Amino acid sequence: MVKICCIGAGYVGGPTMAMIALKCPDIEVVVVDISKPRIAAWNSDELPIYEPGLDDVVKSCRGKNLFFSTEVEKHVAEADIVFVSVNTPTKTRGLGAGKAADLTYWESAARMIADVSKSDKIVVEKSTVPVKTAEAIEKILTHNNKGINFQILSNPEFLAEGTAIEDLDKPDRVLIGGRMTPEGQKAVAALKAVYAHWVPEDRIITTNLWSAELSKLAANAFLAQRISSINAMSALCESTGADVSEVAYAVGKDSRIGPKFLNASVGFGGSCFQKDILNLVYICECNGLPEVAHYWKQVVSINDYQKTRFVKRVVSSMFNTVSGKKIAVLGFAFKKDTGDTRETPAIDVCHGLLGDKAQISIYDPQVTEDQMKRDLAMNKFDWDHPQHLQPQSPTAFKQVSVVWDAYEACKDAHGICIITEWDEFKKLDYQKIYDNMQKPAFLFDGRNVLNVEEMRKIGFVVYSIGKPL
Ligand code: NAD
Ligand code: UGA
Repeated sequence: MVKICCIGAGYVGGPTMAMIALKCPDIEVVVVDISKPRIAAWNSDELPIYEPGLDDVVKSCRGKNLFFSTEVEKHVAEADIVFVSVNTPTKTRGLGAGKAADLTYWESAARMIADVSKSDKIVVEKSTVPVKTAEAIEKILTHNNKGINFQILSNPEFLAEGTAIEDLDKPDRVLIGGRMTPEGQKAVAALKAVYAHWVPEDRIITTNLWSAELSKLAANAFLAQRISSINAMSALCESTGADVSEVAYAVGKDSRIGPKFLNASVGFGGSCFQKDILNLVYICECNGLPEVAHYWKQVVSINDYQKTRFVKRVVSSMFNTVSGKKIAVLGFAFKKDTGDTRETPAIDVCHGLLGDKAQISIYDPQVTEDQMKRDLAMNKFDWDHPQHLQPQSPTAFKQVSVVWDAYEACKDAHGICIITEWDEFKKLDYQKIYDNMQKPAFLFDGRNVLNVEEMRKIGFVVYSIGKPL
């Protein structure tokens, strides 16, 4: 029986390994993590992440060929294939701070693999890493030269949160990069055989190591670039009377462009787009390509501009001040169908409103009050560095209340900001909400989930991204 061990039981390690276990009953999969609470949650009925369909997959193989454990070294030592799916955050200090990837977690995992291994292993980069990381990892793995053969592969993950199970079940492609040596190609074939249990062969792409590493950064940069492009257009739509939804539809009908990822929004969030683009920018700078770096940096700059623009619109519409006014924030997660708040635009919007002394009342169906308050207290980039978490400052939160109902959040509010496109926000009784608000009642739809005309008929003053004012 082939044994797989995955280091890192997070948003990627947990679901990807659960899918491998489901599709490959002949393979034993152990997911290990240094975080005891995370592993305890994976072994409980309350999984540590909310992801549609994940519970069923985990429950059908946990205890059979899928295990979660904190005995990191033991399971790494026993494995034939070791996936490394640890976090690779943006550096917060030192060389490249604010841009470069912090590979501390990756390096410590690689050193541990080198120390505990007694047999040959395939080590798979599952985390998103800078191009050429495999070269550094190889040096670490072979530093004590125990005569063990390590083959390093790059197998980046393309799942999106909220649709992880669907994405893993029917991936557009699986990408495997390896050394072009006979041993390297043997390792590529071994990993390909794992995915071939359920992924059609023509969807498994094999490349050299550097192409695989760079393709992951490139894919995220291209996806985010589409959002920044349509968001840039949304600003022009508002100034000209064009409607961004109509523009996106017309543009996306061109089969060379395609309709996906053209939804204008308050800005993209999530743990990866910004981090990976900044990392790409840093790599370009290090390779003496300032023009290329500048090009990609603009994707992040437009995203920051979009979030700032939204807050400015709220404040300027409400007679240039929100001081002391109650604003309901509907949605805190970075997108619907996830409880993940990493780099969510809600944080920037709330900071902007709090800076103007608003009283904010937040509702999200999946995010806890503790999580929101931690997020609002944290410095930029610190969320992925558990050791740097700042203690909460109680005074900062006199202006924030977190409620478990959208109607409660909106009661007596002067304005509503929709930040996450949860389906339930489309179905609320907006007449009832309007009746219970201060007048004039403002509605700022950061996700274009509502029909502007209907809302205006009720009486709301509506601002929707990229729509005629
Ligand atoms: P995460 O923070 O949810 O999980 C990482 C886990 O690794 C944590 O539980 C942490 O405790 C553990 N860990 C860190 N160092 C460890 C060590 N030395 N030994 C054992 N465990 C250790 O992160 P994630 O969202 O799963 O992302 C992981 C990687 O995958 C990142 O590089 C990310 O860019 C990439 N990625 C993420 C997504 C996504 O949707 N979240 C998608 C594709 C790729
Ligand atoms: C993204 C990519 O889609 C995945 O392929 C990739 O594996 C992953 O990053 C990663 O490397 O972590 P994810 O961040 O989970 O996945 O979610 P997306 O669906 O890409 O959404 C990212 C952000 O963009 C969200 O805030 C979303 O609301 C926003 N978005 C998305 C828009 O504003 N408009 C769109 O048209 C699409």
